[in-house]
Amino acid sequence: MIGFFDSGSGGLSVLSQFRKWAPEAGVVYFGDINNAPYGEKTPEELEALTMLGVDVLRQRGATALVSACNSVSTSILAGASGELPFVEMTIPTAQYMKQFRGKRFLLLATPATVASGIYSRALEGVVMLDTLGIPGLAGAIEFGESDEKVSSVLAEALTQKAGEKYDGIILGCTHYPLALPALAPVIYASFGELAVIDPGEPVAAAAADAFKSEDGGAMRFYISKESDAFRARLKALFPDGSYTVEVI
Ligand code: DGL
Repeated sequence: MIGFFDSGSGGLSVLSQFRKWAPEAGVVYFGDINNAPYGEKTPEELEALTMLGVDVLRQRGATALVSACNSVSTSILAGASGELPFVEMTIPTAQYMKQFRGKRFLLLATPATVASGIYSRALEGVVMLDTLGIPGLAGAIEFGESDEKVSSVLAEALTQKAGEKYDGIILGCTHYPLALPALAPVIYASFGELAVIDPGEPVAAAAADAFKSEDGGAMRFYISKESDAFRARLKALFPDGSYTVEVI
């Protein structure tokens, strides 16, 4: 079974792409909604939560790990995956970004991801990277705030980059692609037409490539707190309903 880990719904944006590459892979997913959002926690808190999350997945049959969360990718790279082989967000993304060599990109991410410097290191010598940590945006998406609210959190944050010119944006939080219809108009209004990169695409492809798993395609979801927003997202992404959800 392939384990997917996120603070909540964000990893679903990676998983939904992974399913296209690996429809027969068995998946066990943990969304730690009780501790969400992760993106405003300290590195020590994130490391501890990552170790607990990996344990949850391992106990439920995961033999490999996809860190479908940017905020914990630093902990994963530092060893928090234990013995599980893993794919995290930044290494496949750096590979993918080589097609944009020398271009200028803005990373939108949680404050924890920006503070970790993980994308700046991964993309050094590949693209010119500016970064913006956005408090509150992942949480607003996780807890099902309205599109207006989600757009306004981003719009407010982007005022800090007014007048800047970029060739593209990197969505450095796996929650953001879930709210793209609300976020994209704000991005284009701020910077004009430009590339919007979802790292979930190369990460999903890398995971499907790394972990050859053909165990029937069953999906089991575990969440640490009941959430209608999570269940509604699952239903929208996987309408055939062939999965189970358990609150643990
Ligand atoms: N989706 C995660 C990320 O990519 C975590 C967001 C959060 O919980 O703040 O960073």
